[in-house]
Amino acid sequence: MIELRNINVEFNRKNEKFHAVNNVSLEVCKGDIYGIVGFSGAGKSTLVRTINLLQKPSSGEVLINNKNLMDLSKKELREERKNIGMIFQHFNLMNSRTVLENVIYPLKNSELSKKEIEDKAIKLLELVEIKEKRDVYPSELSGGQKQRVAIARALANDPEILLCDEATSALDPQITVSILKLLKKVNKSLGVTIVLITHEMQVVKEICNKVAIMDKGQIIERGSLVEIFAKPQKELTINFINTANNTINTLEKLKDHLDIKDFNENKRLVKLSYIGSSAEKPLIVNLYEKFKVSTNILSGSIEYLGDTPFGNLIVINEGDSENINNAYKYLEEEKTLVERLI
Ligand SMILES: Nc1ncnc2c1ncn2[C@@H]1O[C@H](COP(=O)(O)OP(=O)(O)OP(=O)(O)O)[C@@H](O)[C@H]1O
Ligand SMILES: [Mg+2]
Repeated sequence: MIELRNINVEFNRKNEKFHAVNNVSLEVCKGDIYGIVGFSGAGKSTLVRTINLLQKPSSGEVLINNKNLMDLSKKELREERKNIGMIFQHFNLMNSRTVLENVIYPLKNSELSKKEIEDKAIKLLELVEIKEKRDVYPSELSGGQKQRVAIARALANDPEILLCDEATSALDPQITVSILKLLKKVNKSLGVTIVLITHEMQVVKEICNKVAIMDKGQIIERGSLVEIFAKPQKELTINFINTANNTINTLEKLKDHLDIKDFNENKRLVKLSYIGSSAEKPLIVNLYEKFKVSTNILSGSIEYLGDTPFGNLIVINEGDSENINNAYKYLEEEKTLVERLI
């Protein structure tokens, strides 16, 4: 449905060229909530803005439903863009218009009657659960409420695609969760495909089914949410996941109470991550029964990636070093990821 082929974006900076997006190809299927994660400056916004050609690529192709947007006339492109809604970190509402007028605005050239347009806008305000604010001006709304209005406005032309650029980055954690729930509802009830940019893996974990990790203009890793969490390959991906799981904080706190000198090949501090059915197996018991490796759990959590359980334990394993190595081989066969911390 969305297909980016070998996209490059180069900017002229002073006298030199800057390669903001470097040969990126990406396929987003109908119904996906596709997360794009990366640090500031990675090129996420630039890449996503090529999807509706707000940013023209220096080279490469953008196909929406097999139609190459680069081949369209200005008028055709304007029409095609109605199929792609967009929301932003700072909401971009028109402050001199009421909530209702903001949602009506994109429909001003539509073929619907005035009454039909208003009915449609009110329906959208109902969908985003903010109908009671229809006659209020944006300055009187909280950030979360503004984003709801922005979502309603982005849906006015019944787009198949919604692009979200850091849509929750200006919101506190609780409001973030409510906006993500709303996006999920939009995805499920209207079948809207969502591409969501964020620098927080936590956001991805909350609603995405697929994720790509971007670094220095390139996608360095991509896959289903479960694949990426179960077997991250790149260090940056692991860092993002650890931040989302709060592992880094936990580890810092644990390190205050642990003496690094105590650890060696026979006593190791490790993180065990397990996905899906292994979450239900008594692996810890087996480590002792099969390998005489003891496990002392220092911290643990189980969360859900969609419907799939995802567990994280920070443990101390003690035993004969060769037995520990064999125990870890066994764990990996059981699809448990072992990351040595000390
Ligand atoms: N119009 C422009 N002219 C020159 N350089 C630009 C332009 N737009 C973006 N860049 C540069 O391209 C790089 C990628 O920018 P982009 O906004 O895509 O990053 P991002 O991943 O969205 O970052 P953030 O998380 O901060 O929003 C940055 O180094 C930025 O300075
Ligand atoms: Mg950005």
